[in-house]
Amino acid sequence: MKSAGPRVLFLGSHKGGTGKTSAAAALAYLYGSRGIPTILLDVEAVGAASLLAEDESGYCHWPNVSLVRYSPEDALGEFFDDSMTGWKDSHAEGIILIDGPMLTDHKARPMLERSHGVILTCLADPLTLKTIPSGASALHFARKKNPQLRLLGLMINRFRKHDRLQAESFRLMGDQYGKLVLQPPVPEQWEMGQWPQQPGSDLPEGTAREAFESLATNIHQRLFQTVEV
Ligand SMILES: Nc1ncnc2c1ncn2[C@@H]1O[C@H](COP(=O)(O)OP(=O)(O)OP(=O)(O)O)[C@@H](O)[C@H]1O
Ligand SMILES: [Mg+2]
Repeated sequence: MKSAGPRVLFLGSHKGGTGKTSAAAALAYLYGSRGIPTILLDVEAVGAASLLAEDESGYCHWPNVSLVRYSPEDALGEFFDDSMTGWKDSHAEGIILIDGPMLTDHKARPMLERSHGVILTCLADPLTLKTIPSGASALHFARKKNPQLRLLGLMINRFRKHDRLQAESFRLMGDQYGKLVLQPPVPEQWEMGQWPQQPGSDLPEGTAREAFESLATNIHQRLFQTVEV
């Protein structure tokens, strides 16, 4: 039976500050700690994921996680075999998480064309609600070249359930997007905001981590559901 190869998950957003880098790092940390070979691919110009995941010696010491800084122009070539159609065996069965450019940035295209799934990171606010369609339309274009690409879900981050505006926005998202809204939303937690201040440290304990634990399981199922062997 042919190996399914690694799954490529693009953490996407349609606007800044939606928790994309935090989500990519949290998922990489959790998948790695579950024994899944994981590559955290940092394709952002500022290298935010690297700044978070590398300790002071410049290495990522999270178990089973390799951190790779990449230029958007490289388009994942290193991970493919010579024909550019299959994955190199060394990366089989793992997960590649991409903290890349904004979905609407043309530099995201080569990566979207190599990805299996996209998670759209969102805040529960009215602006996010209005801008989700522009993120989704970027996927629509990428799918013309990569029909396997699927929107796996909307991940809500920094959620404050007692904030009425957020609670209402979250309810409206559920009405509009149904099961695409991943459960649970990731609560705002002070320690998560501090995580990048201690480079290379473990994912902080607490309510946000508990949410990421459930989301990691859910996303893994959705990501591997479509595997053709
Ligand atoms: N659950 C959370 N609770 C509290 N703070 C959080 C949480 N998730 C992320 N943050 C903080 O929110 C800020 C934005 O998050 P992050 O950098 O992950 O977003 P981003 O979408 O990658 O932003 P950018 O568009 O700049 O790349 C960061 O300071 C981060 O530490
Ligand atoms: Mg970021």
